[in-house]
Amino acid sequence: MKSVLVTGASGNLGSAVVKKLQNEGCHIFATARDANGLDGAEVAPVDLTDETAVDAYIQSITAKNTNIKAVILLVGGFAMGDLNQTDAAALQKMYKLNFETSYFVVRALLPYFEQNGGGQFILIGSRPGFQAKDAIHTVAYGLSKSLVMYLAEIINAYGKDKGITAAVIVPSTIDTPQNRSAMPNANPDKWVSADTLADSIYFLLTDTGKQLRETVLKVYNES
Ligand SMILES: NC(=O)c1ccc[n+]([C@@H]2O[C@H](COP(=O)([O-])OP(=O)(O)OC[C@H]3O[C@@H](n4cnc5c(N)ncnc54)[C@H](OP(=O)(O)O)[C@@H]3O)[C@@H](O)[C@H]2O)c1
Repeated sequence: MKSVLVTGASGNLGSAVVKKLQNEGCHIFATARDANGLDGAEVAPVDLTDETAVDAYIQSITAKNTNIKAVILLVGGFAMGDLNQTDAAALQKMYKLNFETSYFVVRALLPYFEQNGGGQFILIGSRPGFQAKDAIHTVAYGLSKSLVMYLAEIINAYGKDKGITAAVIVPSTIDTPQNRSAMPNANPDKWVSADTLADSIYFLLTDTGKQLRETVLKVYNES
């Protein structure tokens, strides 16, 4: 059975991705501080901003010889703030939450993929990560996601001919309880559901999806 590691598995998107991949027959390793609702997955509460803890965790799951073929890196967070408001602390916070949490896992898992014939990294970007006009009021968030998206390019350059690829999923606004309460006047029908994103992520893991290269999948619906 194919195994997939999902980080941020307790989140809005994470729980939908775990459910979808389990329905498709994957064995799931998951990082989540709250294992509620993640029945059937092997869950560990790892702080992914802690490089030492990430290294130990990846070591522990890869030592089990569990045929991990992909990692879906969903940990991340959002913050408002324009150039005037974004100080060093604001930059650091988003850098750690969005970039380090991806980078540490990528770095720890890469040798395993290299030794086992390859693997897929699926990262989560955002529009402010590559469109400056969308980052005007979310400077730290946009900058941190831009690093995530460039990390995918570096992985693709490094992984060429090694069977190692990276893809980036770019959601517009996800239909979450938090977004509904933050934007009560918006029309959530125009947003994208976590289930639709989970389907898109699963597609990347299929035999067809695996042949895509340097993928940036923009899942926007109407927003
Ligand atoms: N929501 C949107 O509209 C939207 C739009 C574009 C992109 N995205 C991106 O999509 C991804 C998922 O979004 P979401 O709405 O599903 O987020 P979410 O519900 O807030 O979930 C985030 C997850 O990250 C985990 N996490 C936070 N800090 C962590 C840390 N230091 N170590 C380990 N885990 C940590 C959280 O676990 P705990 O609950 O234990 O803290 C949670 O499971 C994020 O990368 C986000 O930036 C979201």
